[in-house]
Amino acid sequence: MPRTPLIAGNWKMHGLTDALGFFDALAGSGAVSGGRELLVCPPATLVAAAVHAARNHGIRIGGQDCHTESSGAHTGDISAAMLRDAGADYVIVGHSERRADHGETDDIVRAKAEAARGAGLTPIICVGETLADRESGREEDVVGRQLAGSIPSGFGPADYVIAYEPVWAIGTGRTASADDIAAMHAFIRSQVPDGEGVRILYGGSVKPENAREILALDDVDGALVGGASLKVESFVAIAESA
Ligand code: PGA
Repeated sequence: MPRTPLIAGNWKMHGLTDALGFFDALAGSGAVSGGRELLVCPPATLVAAAVHAARNHGIRIGGQDCHTESSGAHTGDISAAMLRDAGADYVIVGHSERRADHGETDDIVRAKAEAARGAGLTPIICVGETLADRESGREEDVVGRQLAGSIPSGFGPADYVIAYEPVWAIGTGRTASADDIAAMHAFIRSQVPDGEGVRILYGGSVKPENAREILALDDVDGALVGGASLKVESFVAIAESA
């Protein structure tokens, strides 16, 4: 089964209703054709409106996080079922900002991935080492452990997407080198069951200037883009590089 490239935008905690014009501009660009999948993960407040704006253009919408339960007494949280109900197709789980800011462990991430799949969403499971991990040569140990702990047993290649995001490359303008990305993506593919069919995205300061080189790497099946996904011009340029 060919791995369709996935270009995903993660808006993080950015975007008010006036940001919805993004979807008309994206829909009118060349990025929407060409055998690639486009996904935007806006803040939860915009998911339903983004689904409405993107619906007829083949642009998919995702959440940035979900709870492990489908409903319950969890003030402020959003379930996978709610995202699905709002029209989302994907949800990011285990982003390093969630792991750091909210103490999310691999066990929690795995439960969220299971909840997402159970609700009909495709989870994008994020992994990545810190700078200290890399400088001490432990990046494969750390990522290997995150993969083993965060991917539910029984998941097949079509059930999820992996995003490799070295923590030190996120929002820093510092990208991993092509050699380091290639090595880590090959490692990840070797670690997961039926890895040949699993889509593995790279994330961390992806921008129009570096997208082509990164997306051309054999084991890179797309990108998870933060800052550069907020402007339609840069998101389109990145997508057109895939
Ligand atoms: P960045 O964020 O592109 O701004 O580095 C990527 C991410 O956190 O998903």
